[in-house]
Amino acid sequence: LMSSMEGGFIKKIVYYEETDSTNIRARKLAEEGAPDGTLVVTDFQNAGRGRRGRMWVSPSGTGIFMSLILRPDILPSSASMLTLVAALAVYDGIKETTGLETVIKWPNDIVAEGKKLCGILTEMSAELEGIHYVVTGIGINANMTEFPEEVGESATSLSIMTGGPVRRSRLIAAVMKAYEGYYEKFKSCGSLAGLMDVYNEHMANLGREVKVLDPAGAYTGKALGIDEKGELIVEKADGKVVRVVSGEVSVRGI
Ligand code: BTN
Repeated sequence: LMSSMEGGFIKKIVYYEETDSTNIRARKLAEEGAPDGTLVVTDFQNAGRGRRGRMWVSPSGTGIFMSLILRPDILPSSASMLTLVAALAVYDGIKETTGLETVIKWPNDIVAEGKKLCGILTEMSAELEGIHYVVTGIGINANMTEFPEEVGESATSLSIMTGGPVRRSRLIAAVMKAYEGYYEKFKSCGSLAGLMDVYNEHMANLGREVKVLDPAGAYTGKALGIDEKGELIVEKADGKVVRVVSGEVSVRGI
């Protein structure tokens, strides 16, 4: 895997046959000084984590479970944008290795035929002055043939969608190569300004009616796209335009 990524921005790959969660591992390694561009990969997570404290089903040898350690010189408030950068990279990596056309469900799920193929979980350590490190965890359902009952019909895998197994090392290399290009663009703008258009092009919610599950009160509206911060611009029924911050609310297609 390393040889296929040589010369790129990945400096080091740390592989575990089994681990609790690559995000937990990556955070520990980052605390111990792991450099920018360290990628943590495993075949099996026994405590894979998703967003909102959910668990992430990580059966042995079938999925891609990886976490990228970055130390960008950006404000802590910009770190969540890296999740959207990762979503673009996964979109490209899947397209290149399998030919499958997917869509991005804002902010960071990759979906095909309405079913989830990939989830992304970004965590960071920062203080007011800046970021110590950002860990972006990416879980791609590559070769799963079935999912546990609790996941139900909401998930699918690349092999189910394409009818054949996927070479995980090839897909990881393709995602990281795409990530590098998008990451450079992100760093040179200091925002998603240069990536908004391509993101909106791939976004499932674009132009669609969405339901925003705001803790202060749910509402519906039309998704107009993301802005340079990665916030979702929603036009409410009364014509008022609001911006939805990822993490604060959950958006459902209706
Ligand atoms: C979500 O959609 O809820 C995010 C899922 C993120 C899963 C990945 S798998 C690799 C990394 N390690 C974890 O424990 N979680 C992320």
